[in-house]
Amino acid sequence: MGLPSTSYSLLLLFLSILAFAESNSIGVNYGRIADNLPPPRKVVELLKRNGITRVKLYDTDATVLSALANSNISVTVAMPNELLSSAAADQSFTDAWVHANISKYFPATKIEAIAVGNEVFVDPRNTTSFLVPAMKNVHSSLVKLKLDPNISISSPIALTALQSSYPTSFGSFNSTLTGPVIVPMLDFLRKTGSYLMVNAYPFFAYSANADKISINYALFKENLGVVDSGNGLKYNSLFDAQVDAVYAALSALKYDDIRIVVTETGWPSKGDENEVGAGPENAAAYNGNLVRRVLTGNGTPLRSNYSLDVFMFALFNENQKPGPTSERNYGLFYPNEQRVYDIPLTMDDLKSRSQSVTPSPEAIDGAEVSTVVQTWCVANRKAAKEKLQAALDFACGEGGADCKPIQEGAACYSPDSLEAHASYALNSYYQKKARAAGSCYFGGVAYVVTQPPKYGTCVFPTGY
Ligand SMILES: *[C@@H]1O[C@H](CO)[C@@H](O)[C@H](O)[C@H]1NC(C)=O
Ligand SMILES: *[C@@H]1O[C@H](CO)[C@@H](O)[C@H](O)[C@H]1NC(C)=O
Ligand SMILES: *[C@@H]1O[C@H](CO)[C@@H](O)[C@H](O)[C@H]1NC(C)=O
Ligand SMILES: *[C@@H]1O[C@H](CO)[C@@H](O)[C@H](O)[C@H]1NC(C)=O
Ligand SMILES: *[C@@H]1O[C@H](CO)[C@@H](O)[C@H](O)[C@H]1NC(C)=O
Ligand SMILES: *[C@@H]1O[C@H](CO)[C@@H](O)[C@H](O)[C@H]1NC(C)=O
Repeated sequence: MGLPSTSYSLLLLFLSILAFAESNSIGVNYGRIADNLPPPRKVVELLKRNGITRVKLYDTDATVLSALANSNISVTVAMPNELLSSAAADQSFTDAWVHANISKYFPATKIEAIAVGNEVFVDPRNTTSFLVPAMKNVHSSLVKLKLDPNISISSPIALTALQSSYPTSFGSFNSTLTGPVIVPMLDFLRKTGSYLMVNAYPFFAYSANADKISINYALFKENLGVVDSGNGLKYNSLFDAQVDAVYAALSALKYDDIRIVVTETGWPSKGDENEVGAGPENAAAYNGNLVRRVLTGNGTPLRSNYSLDVFMFALFNENQKPGPTSERNYGLFYPNEQRVYDIPLTMDDLKSRSQSVTPSPEAIDGAEVSTVVQTWCVANRKAAKEKLQAALDFACGEGGADCKPIQEGAACYSPDSLEAHASYALNSYYQKKARAAGSCYFGGVAYVVTQPPKYGTCVFPTGY
């Protein structure tokens, strides 16, 4: 039986969405609030090995900018908040700053943007009134050097700049800030052809409202779509809803032409007791599904034809960040360059791992594509034997895992090791629990992977 023509046109639509999505991009924030990170030249090698083509920095460190020279990695640099008052006051200050910190490195170092300040509206130093004058002075300094067509200027705002973000389509900016700073900033962005930088953390929203927000929605695993009661658009992720709340706020002020770049998003692999949702499985799921969603999806439901550029937070766990435990555990990598969890970071990586994704009409509805990533649970080979054995016994006993395949003579008996058998049993438990958050933890002896585990010829199931 042939494909009905509506399915066929949906398939074409799906393919054209995929084709358009080529322009979306993933970058990583390279924060350095730590005393144990590798030297910048080694970090640049790490970025290249992992196919990361865009980074964002929190300053203009000379060693870092030099190490990035001729790497073909695009770089967003930052002017820290403490310089805003000087930058706002004096054009000669920004001339000197641009000379010493930008034009000295460009174009060998592919600087594509300057973040002037970071989350300025929530800076306890009260730097808000300096923001737009500082942005304008930095821009004038770039114009003098004819670098303004090459380097964009913007400033990352936190989602707390919104006074309303739910329903998504009712998104609006904090009215106290709108007149004094938001409208002047948006005028500046429009005039200079720049974009709005937004830091968006579904983790914070989930963690504070875990009783109201489903973890699947926070982790890009929602398939049915949460309908926005204002405009009827369907959302498969809290991330998309957060970005669109800012687009709605822009729209309310008649700045529909301004694009958003998500300059930070992430999920911590560790947190304090009260930081609900922090943990390695959720971090792997969030970041892995984010990469897939960005690289294989289109724009957001409200702006499906705008490219979606996202910088993950962050490259490393940073041991000197103050605050709750989560703050020091957003990294994709440990300082020793080992991955905290294994997720794809590039399109090639995704393609080599992915089972083919079958387009379905639901996936296209609301201009969203399915972003479910296959995951498995495996034993941590560094776990203490007794703990691993206890987890294995639990899974095969009251946990109800299917442990027949690891009995002597069965398909997954070989290799006959505690690690292999525990991985099989823990994965079976995890799949039977429908991969629910927390079902691949076992006191820290297991973790989630996005590649099929390899133990001999044993095939690990992904569902029961
Ligand atoms: C540099 O990066 C751009 C964008 O990522 C890519 O299109 C181009 O092929 C790269 N050039 C080289 C010489 O690798
Ligand atoms: C270059 O930037 C650094 C930090 O961003 C700053 O401390 C330094 O003063 C800048 N150089 C000039 C000449 O402004
Ligand atoms: C913040 O700055 C504004 C304008 O410069 C000033 O009116 C206000 O009192 C300051 N607030 C604090 C808490 O310093
Ligand atoms: C900077 O932008 C101008 C105008 O778009 C372009 O002609 C030039 O090649 C760019 N310079 C570099 C180094 O990319
Ligand atoms: C709006 O911004 C002002 C000034 O930063 C702040 O005092 C106020 O709490 C904010 N309102 C909301 C609803 O976030
Ligand atoms: C996106 O589509 C809208 C109309 O739906 C159009 O006005 C806008 O120019 C398009 N933007 C881009 C970047 O293609």
